[in-house]
Amino acid sequence: MADSITITDNRTGESIEIPIVDGGVDAAEWRKLLPGIWFYDPGFATTAAARSAITELDGEAGILRYRGYPIEQLAEQSTFLEVAYLLVHGELPDADQYATWVDEVTHHTYIHENFRKRIYDAFHYDAHPMGLLTSGVAGLSTFYPEAKDIADPANRLTQIIRLIAKMPTLAAAAYRFSKGQPFVFPDNDLDYPTNFLHMMFQIGGAWEPHPAIVRAMDLLFILHADHEQNCSTTAARVVGSSHADPYTVVAAACAALYGPRHGGANEAVLKMLDEIGSYDNVDAFVESVKNGQGRLMGFGHRVYKNYDPRAKIIKQAAYDVFEVTGKNPLLDIALKLEEVALADEYFISRKLYPNVDFYSGLIYQSLGFPIEMFTVLFAIPRTSGWLSHWNELLAQDSRIARPRQLYVGPGVRDYVPIDER
Ligand code: ACO
Repeated sequence: MADSITITDNRTGESIEIPIVDGGVDAAEWRKLLPGIWFYDPGFATTAAARSAITELDGEAGILRYRGYPIEQLAEQSTFLEVAYLLVHGELPDADQYATWVDEVTHHTYIHENFRKRIYDAFHYDAHPMGLLTSGVAGLSTFYPEAKDIADPANRLTQIIRLIAKMPTLAAAAYRFSKGQPFVFPDNDLDYPTNFLHMMFQIGGAWEPHPAIVRAMDLLFILHADHEQNCSTTAARVVGSSHADPYTVVAAACAALYGPRHGGANEAVLKMLDEIGSYDNVDAFVESVKNGQGRLMGFGHRVYKNYDPRAKIIKQAAYDVFEVTGKNPLLDIALKLEEVALADEYFISRKLYPNVDFYSGLIYQSLGFPIEMFTVLFAIPRTSGWLSHWNELLAQDSRIARPRQLYVGPGVRDYVPIDER
């Protein structure tokens, strides 16, 4: 049996055979047979817009791998910075490469004082930190005009290192600003997650986070580092395809991540759990979701039709964190919600399972992060994924993203002056 498909235009009887390569068919072949007839695919649910060697995801089987390495192994044995190296470079670093990488990231953590004072201080006192981060990272492009030279791979790598290094600083500064607290400078003697926690929570005096808390932070960074062609990565790739600089690309990705259907979902989960309020209200809440009154946030995924492997790891990590912080009181509601939903025909038939956001918010809250910071916490590690995709895209010299449409508006008509309408 041939590994191909045959498409026949029933208007003319003409056929074209297209080989199936790497699980896809080349749309350029289709175009030869059917010029002017477009695939209608809102949400790109059936469209592969990239050839990528970064993350492999099998949503039916619940498999997630970065550069071939199972997420479970990376979560257990690796660090976020090592995973970031893997995503960017394609291979795990040896000891020397790792030391250099850590050193480079650590020494790009500072942000320009003008930036912090003039740009962040211009915001309203209660500005959402994700709004600050998105604007802030776009603003950084004006501090690094050389980043516009996107054709030079060495220059791209410098900007990637800068961005991975500066995102925690920008994120913590956004939080401090929204709390009216003084900015804490990076401490380059600390490792990546500890430094971030330090910039977030240090208030005078000796301060040292519990190792289990640091590990949980790093683990959450690993789990959020990449997820192939999701909404924000697609935004990054689309903007990157116009050859915008990487700061602008990451700002676009942050904007996409901000929405409650994507990275904003962990914030929405906590609001939902708060609204449900008690264990006894769970059944009624699930009924209301089934009746179309809102969605069960943290459930469902475009690609996973099985338990999200990250949700499994996070659920376990939540218990480790609660050992140190005490149990999050919303945990019981979440557990019951999961139990009720997973036994309910509505969720079973639609293959709706907990996604990465269902339990992450509970950990973030127990670590002391306000819910407005949750999406920001997602953006920090995902920057390594966004930029790996951006780098891959530019190395492939792909075309500018420019989809087609099916025009369904009015036909041609003559302009009528306003007083005659
Ligand atoms: N609660 C209740 N019903 C749901 C949910 C949910 N969370 N998600 C999907 N459904 C239902 C839909 O109503 C639809 O039912 P229907 O066939 O009767 O109309 C069916 O399941 C399919 O849903 P779609 O909206 O077509 O699924 P899609 O793939 O477009 O959406 C999404 C995926 C956006 C993640 C969706 O499941 C959702 O809104 N979930 C809640 C928000 C969330 O947790 N987002 C985080 C995603 S993970 C991430 O970005 C990190």
